[in-house]
This record gives sequence, structure tokens and C-alpha cells, in this order.
Amino acid sequence: MVSILVVEDDESLSSLIGRKLKRKGFRVDAVGSGEEAKELIEKGNYDVVLLDIKLSDMNGLDLLKEISGRTNAKFIVITGYGDVSTAVEAMKAGASDFIQKPFSFDILEVSIEKALKEKRLEEENKALKSFLFDKEHEIVLETRSPLFKNILQMIEGAARSDINILLRGETGTGKEVLARYIHRISDRRDKPFIVVDCGAIPEHLFESELFGHERGAYTGATSRKLGLVELADGGTLFLDEIGEIPLPVQAKLLRFVETRRFRRVGGLKEHRVDVRIISATNRDLKEMVRKGEFRSDLLYRINTFEVEIPPLRERKEDIPLLVETFLRRYRKRIKKETLKKLTAYDWPGNVRELRNAIERASLLSKGEYIDENLCLPSGESKEACMENIFSAMPSLKDLELLYTAYLYRKLGSVDKVAKVLGCSRRTVFRKLRELRERNGNFEGSPFSQLGVHRD
Ligand SMILES: Nc1ncnc2c1ncn2[C@@H]1O[C@H](COP(=O)(O)OP(=O)(O)OP(=O)(O)O)[C@@H](O)[C@H]1O
Ligand SMILES: [Mg+2]
Repeated sequence: MVSILVVEDDESLSSLIGRKLKRKGFRVDAVGSGEEAKELIEKGNYDVVLLDIKLSDMNGLDLLKEISGRTNAKFIVITGYGDVSTAVEAMKAGASDFIQKPFSFDILEVSIEKALKEKRLEEENKALKSFLFDKEHEIVLETRSPLFKNILQMIEGAARSDINILLRGETGTGKEVLARYIHRISDRRDKPFIVVDCGAIPEHLFESELFGHERGAYTGATSRKLGLVELADGGTLFLDEIGEIPLPVQAKLLRFVETRRFRRVGGLKEHRVDVRIISATNRDLKEMVRKGEFRSDLLYRINTFEVEIPPLRERKEDIPLLVETFLRRYRKRIKKETLKKLTAYDWPGNVRELRNAIERASLLSKGEYIDENLCLPSGESKEACMENIFSAMPSLKDLELLYTAYLYRKLGSVDKVAKVLGCSRRTVFRKLRELRERNGNFEGSPFSQLGVHRD
């Protein structure tokens, strides 16, 4: 049941609101003072707090500022008529809405609905993140390949220092996975790991994404925004796809990499942060330097320690282990002949392609064993590919879930998936949840990596 706390020192108003809300099916508590409210909010599990600004013992705004970070409850602030500046301040302090006295019950109801919706979305996002974005448990670091073993040893050695690391390797070899691993075993593990997706940020936004901007730095900059480098302070800054950074931006990045100093866009003050920089690329940066597409001074800053991650075809010994790990989450098995064929295949998309293949085959194979045709890429026409999927005769439901998972991985955002599917965000969430439940109650989830990378 949705629970609401009414904080209002006018008793007759408070009991009127209480009665009306109870009639609507809410659980309602009411208090008259800020102190009582504080105690209840911290203890209780309220969804919404209706907070009057003028309380007998304190200003509701101060209470809001003090407590909003410590609870998941949404605040609706009640202000005196015409008191716009307080309302604005309340919104800045984290209130989700404000209403002015005197107000009608309808307005209050709309406002509560809005706050509840906001809260539900936040919770969904959190839940989704926890199973879609936490991929650390997925990592397979056991290896039978001497080549990869050597690389892991190098990485582990470098992780403990603050040295700049450049990870090179084909797409899907695990550059991001390894960057996260480096962070996790470094002394910075309790601080943030911030990904800068260099390929995805438009050139004109790069500086402000990276270094933040001051209020009024340009039209639309209505408040100060912290940049990614500041968010990473104390932790690791992962410059993914660094080869995609346009030349003019490279110059700005160079200064930061050299000094760890930067200015927010529109700001004069220089700030300094303490970050370890890991970069990754699947391009040949030296070749790009020769062609004048990448600054040599930047390259020599970021590649103090360079690691080339081998493609999967050069460490085929690890395929059985990876397959086994990916299958375990689906409680499926693989026949020896199938595994042999998987090992013989060259996997141009590397570990990611292998994982996707196993995922697809596990979802669509009916029996205990995964179907060979479903996990081996046909490398043929679109029709053959369709034939492979359809010959397993998936139900419409299976197809729906599989397609949703595919889109989510590709587009990386629930909003975008909803747009393509022509359905609501809620429906997308529901499908992704169903997908997870379908695959049992694992410690992690088979789809925990879905959101992390846009293939
Ligand atoms: N060691 C590993 N153990 C388990 N899974 C792995 C491992 N390495 C890679 N993967 C899988 O492959 C996927 C791709 O890995 P990652 O995103 O790190 O690749 P990448 O090298 O950054 O690729 P790209 O160049 O395309 O960005 C991961 O989401 C993960 O599922
Ligand atoms: Mg990557």
C-alpha cells in the first residue's frame, strides 16, 4: 500500500487531507512538527511526504535539504499563496513538486500521482541497473592460453600503480571488461569507474561532457554541470574508443592528461582531480598518427603502458571455458561435437560474438542441449540466418523477448527500445524482467551484460 506522511502544523488542514487520502486508499500518517517528521521519515518507509514550509519548530525547506538525500521518499512541498521563490528553492532542494495554499484536493492528487510515478521510474531504473549493468561477476579470468596468461600478469602488475594504460584489441576482445578489472584490483576500487564513450559524444559537446560547464556558459546551460573527469575524482577514467576523438578535442584532452587540471566551460577557475586514466581502442593509433589523424603527443601520454589483447582465435584454448560459463547461466548443456565446431570457428566478433551466440542458442533451444545450428553463425544469407532461428520454431513470446534483448543491447536505452517497439517503457522493463525470470534465479543474470555494450 502506498504510504504518505503529512507534515503540517495546522491540525484541521492536516486531518482533512488525511481523511481524503485514506478514502483514496493510501496509508497516511500525520505529524505537526519538523522534529517528529525527521524521525518518522528516517524510520518509516514513506513513498510521498507532503511537507508544509511553515512548521512550528523549523522551516520545511531546511528539513527538506537535510533529509531528502537520506530517503527514497518523494517530497511535495506546500507553500503559502504567491510564495514563488520558496517554491523554486524547494524544487532545487529536491522536491518533486509544490502546491500553493489554498489548493483543491484534485491538484493534490495529481501531484501525488506524479511523485509516485517518478518514484516508480527511479526504482525500476535502479533494479534494472543492478541486473543489467553489473557485469563484474561475468568475467572469466581463468585461462589456458599462455598468451592471455602473460597479458593478465602484465595487467595485474600495472594495476597497482597509477600508470596510464592503453588497451588495444579487436572489437569484443574484452577491453572494457579488463579496464573494469584493473580498476577493481587497484587501490581505487572503492572510488568511481567512469566511462567516457569517446565515439558517442558529438564534437561540440565533448568539452562540456568531459570538464563540465558553469551556469550560463551557453544558451541552455541553466545550471552548473560537473564533467566526467570530476565525477571520476579519486577513481578511474576510462577513455573508451579514444581513436574516435576529433583532433581539436585531442588538444584539450592532452592538457588534462598531462596535468590532471581543467577548467569547466565558461569558468575561470582551474580545478585538479586525481584520476587514473585507462584508454581503449580497436584502431591502429600509430598509423593514425602517421596520417595526421591522431596527435603523437597524446598517444605518448596515454600509452605509457600498452597492452595488446589477443583476438579469441589466438586463444582458442579458452573457448570451452567461456562457453561453459555462458551456458551455466541458462542451465543448458553443449554436445562435444558442437563445442568442437565452436572452437574451430574464427569468431571475428570475439568474446562478445561467442557470448551472443550462446545466449541466442540457449534461449531458442528447446531441450537440455543447445542446438548447433543456432549458435554457429551461418555466415550465409539473411534467409539462412532466419532459417536457423525459425527452424527452432520459437513461440511469438520467445521471439518477442529475444528481439527486445537484442534491441536493448544494440541501443542501450529503454527509451530507445520502447520507441522502436512502439510500446511503453514499462512494457520494455516488463519484458526484460521476464527474460531474467525465465532463466532462473541466478546469482547474477544471464542478461547482466545486455546494457553495457552497444554492439
Ligand atoms: N574475460 C571475459 N569473460 C567473460 N566475458 C567476457 C570477457 N571478455 C569479454 N567478454 C564478453 O564480451 C563482451 C564484450 O567485451 P568488451 O565490451 O570488454 O569488449 P571491447 O573490447 O571493449 O569491445 P569494443 O571494441 O567493441 O568496445 C562483454 O560484454 C562480455 O560479455
Ligand atoms: Mg569497448
